[in-house]
Amino acid sequence: MINQKIKAVILVAGPQKGTRFRPLSLEVPKPLFPVAGYPLVEHHISACKKVEDIDEIILLGFYQLDDQISRFVDDMKRKYEINLRYLQEYQPLGTAGGLYHFRDQIIRADASAIIVIHADIFCILPLKEMIQLYKDKNQTSENGCHIVLGTHSNKVQPLAQSQHGNMVISKTNEVSHYVEKPESYVSGVINCGVYIFHPTIKQALASIYENNQRSAREEEHDNSSYNPELMFIEKHLFSHIAGSGQLFCHMLSNSFWGSMKSAGSAIFANKQYLSSYRNSDLQLELAKNGEGKPEILGDVFIHPTAVVDPTAKLGPNVSIGSHCIVGAGARVKESIILDGAELRENCCLLHCIIGWRCLVGAWSRIEGTPQEPNPNYPYALVNNESLFHSDGKLIPSVTVLGCNVVIPREVIVLNSIVLPHKELNGSHKNQIIL
Ligand code: GTP
Repeated sequence: MINQKIKAVILVAGPQKGTRFRPLSLEVPKPLFPVAGYPLVEHHISACKKVEDIDEIILLGFYQLDDQISRFVDDMKRKYEINLRYLQEYQPLGTAGGLYHFRDQIIRADASAIIVIHADIFCILPLKEMIQLYKDKNQTSENGCHIVLGTHSNKVQPLAQSQHGNMVISKTNEVSHYVEKPESYVSGVINCGVYIFHPTIKQALASIYENNQRSAREEEHDNSSYNPELMFIEKHLFSHIAGSGQLFCHMLSNSFWGSMKSAGSAIFANKQYLSSYRNSDLQLELAKNGEGKPEILGDVFIHPTAVVDPTAKLGPNVSIGSHCIVGAGARVKESIILDGAELRENCCLLHCIIGWRCLVGAWSRIEGTPQEPNPNYPYALVNNESLFHSDGKLIPSVTVLGCNVVIPREVIVLNSIVLPHKELNGSHKNQIIL
């Protein structure tokens, strides 16, 4: 097993998912959304590239293979010199259905293990440590052991448990009990959405498929669109194999972790990845202070093609995309400015995402409410709650401008979401502007 090759599969889902990420996900597939200067999924691809044993990376989803995805795949192949391809599900098949549908391509005879990564998570992937645990556990087992990445969550933050899979872990790292998104507290360890599967997963998936088919027949699903190929790793596999000596957990240490469901969590992911550049080979990507340069506070990424006036002040935790123009005296903090946006003189942007090719007028102020884990709780996570309170009111969050929005000079936009191609004519607060 040691010398055989490992396949990595990144689950990218498709257009019907990522609804909490609208309107940004209307312009790019969520996994291609840039965080700290690079598409989210590129962070995962570059982590896979660092593992020598991985000989192929597969992006698995149900997006149409359009120009954007083909271009991305070609760019990544060129940049990282890796085997990379996109496999398209004919409809959403869940987190396990695509693995089963394409089993002959993914779980081939020469594969010693299959790494599966949820595209929408953000963390420094501890792939080497997980592979080591995988090798150790499989050396002494005959059945084939699988590994799941876990992290701590906080008991006083009940939403965190009910948004993730909860795992009870034994002293030998075995996952003895697994419950997906429980309503009440089960365990302080949650599933991070990164797995290493033994090739025996093929049989396990086949039996889930057969079970689904059988229950469809027995219960006579009146819903004729029921698809037994719709399967989930978490619900169908982990809940069943937990406690059988086949599922083990590697606990994440020395890294942040979160899942990028909303614009607020994208700002948090941007901050975390930027700070991780400081001690990595991406150090040079961080902007520096210097003569004739804008004032930089903390971690800032500026694309080489962006033009930033030397009197602008940026940071901390700012990413400026390609071909952006940042005018004199502009102030940007805790924000992502997407490709081609123009920020005119003395505008002020705090906790916001400015969409592709937007124009922000002079002296305007765009501000949102940060969505960060509570720093007073150890292991706190970003809560990816919905956009609205139960009474239908918008929950204050980061301000998001969709692509091509025009903000006139001297207006204030606070805690709002502006849909693409809008031209505002005044100030707005706590609104979705359609
Ligand atoms: P929420 O219900 O949105 O809170 O979801 P979750 O965090 O449990 O995640 P979800 O099951 O929606 O997705 C987990 C990961 O699997 C994400 O990276 C998705 O991109 C991916 N995913 C979800 N459904 C599918 C699917 O049908 N096909 C593929 N290929 N990927 C999927």
